[in-house]
Order: sequence, then C-alpha cells, then structure tokens
Amino acid sequence: MTEAAAPGTAEYWDQRYAAIGDVNVSWFQDAPVVGLALIDGVADSGASVVDVGGGASRLVDHLLERGYRDLTVVDLSAESLRASRDRVGEAPVTWIATDIRDWQPARTFDLWHDRAAYHFLTDPDDQQHYWQLVHDTVVPGGHVIVATFADDGPEQCSGLPVTRYSASQLAVAMGERFTVLESQSEQHTTPTGGTQSFVWVLARRI
Ligand SMILES: C[S@@+](CC[C@H](N)C(=O)[O-])C[C@H]1O[C@@H](n2cnc3c(N)ncnc32)[C@H](O)[C@@H]1O
Repeated sequence: MTEAAAPGTAEYWDQRYAAIGDVNVSWFQDAPVVGLALIDGVADSGASVVDVGGGASRLVDHLLERGYRDLTVVDLSAESLRASRDRVGEAPVTWIATDIRDWQPARTFDLWHDRAAYHFLTDPDDQQHYWQLVHDTVVPGGHVIVATFADDGPEQCSGLPVTRYSASQLAVAMGERFTVLESQSEQHTTPTGGTQSFVWVLARRI
C-alpha cells in the first residue's frame, strides 16, 4: 500500500491524480471555456503561453488545436504532466515539474494562465513572491489570467486550505504593476455534480 504523502507536496498531488484519475478530479473541465475565451480576446497563435499549475488540464490541447506552438505547462505533479504529455503526444509543449515557489524561468512569456493553483498559496510571502514572478516572467504589455475560488467559494480544494478572493481582492494582490482589464464569475460543475464558485481576472502587465 502506498504511504500517504505530506499534504501539498509533489507526492501528495501525484497520489491524488493517480488515485482519482485526471478526468474525475473536482476541477476537471473537458472544455476550459472561460479561460479559452479570455485567451482568445487578447492573444493569437503566435503568442507564447505558460499554464502555471496546469496539471492535466485540457487547456493545452485546445491551444494546440488553435495553432499555438510555444506552450509551457508548469506543475508540481509530474504525474499530472505525464497524463497530459501522453494525451497530446509529440506536440510542441515544454513540461516543467516544479514548485511554482522555486521556479526560476529562463525566459519570458506573452501570456500567463493559472486556474486554481495560485489560491493554494496561503503564506503572504509566497503570494508576494508569486506576483513578483509573474511580473518578471511576462513581457511588458503581456497578459495574465488568474482564476481562484471566489470569496463565496469552497475554503478547501483537494484537502488543502486555499485563499479565496473577490475580483477586487485579486486586483489588490496583483498590485499596481498590472492593469485589470476584465473579471468574471464562474460556477464550475464538478464531475460529481457539485458547484464551485470561481473568480477570473484578466490583466495586462504594465
Ligand atoms: C486544482 S488543480 C488545477 C489544475 C489545472 N489548472 C486545471 O484547471 O485543470 C491545481 C494544480 O496546481 C498544482 N499545484 C499546487 N500547488 C502547486 C505549486 N506550489 N507549484 C506548482 N503547481 C502546484 C497541482 O499539482 C494541481 O495540478
């Protein structure tokens, strides 16, 4: 029997993906409709995109279908990245298994996308470091799309505490080096039929 991993570690996330299956996890979306619509509004297939905490998300499949050829997916769980890599095959995607708190990107991107990874950062120092990383990693004039549990959303995700945000709280967290262009609410239906309240913010890096 596999020993239970410490909460929040790479092994913890690997075990969740392996035990539940990437299509049965509560955050699964076959079509990441809101994220794709926001991306379509500000980018085209020539853009470089990083999906942070992308895991086994189908976002990368949809961007490949749209013709994107400079895609990077970053996640703590190598297991989740393996699931995506197995699915999309030899597609031009860079897969990086790392903790976002330790990631030191060697390049910049036109667009940063994060659905439901940032909200696991509950330590204010980690949150500040995250926004510094976004700032340093996105080109000036580039875009940032971040989704978290909304202020009326669940207090936990995957057995871990999260920080919940309203759109204005996310804007404050980003700081003045980003201009918020749009925010949206989303009611996500989980594979078991539950509902989770999300907030999305699209911003431009000044
Ligand atoms: C709720 S899932 C969302 C996955 C994906 N964005 C989606 O929409 O399907 C959160 C993801 O964040 C990853 N994650 C959690 N903490 C992380 C960290 N500190 N660094 C990198 N990835 C992290 C998990 O492994 C998991 O794949």
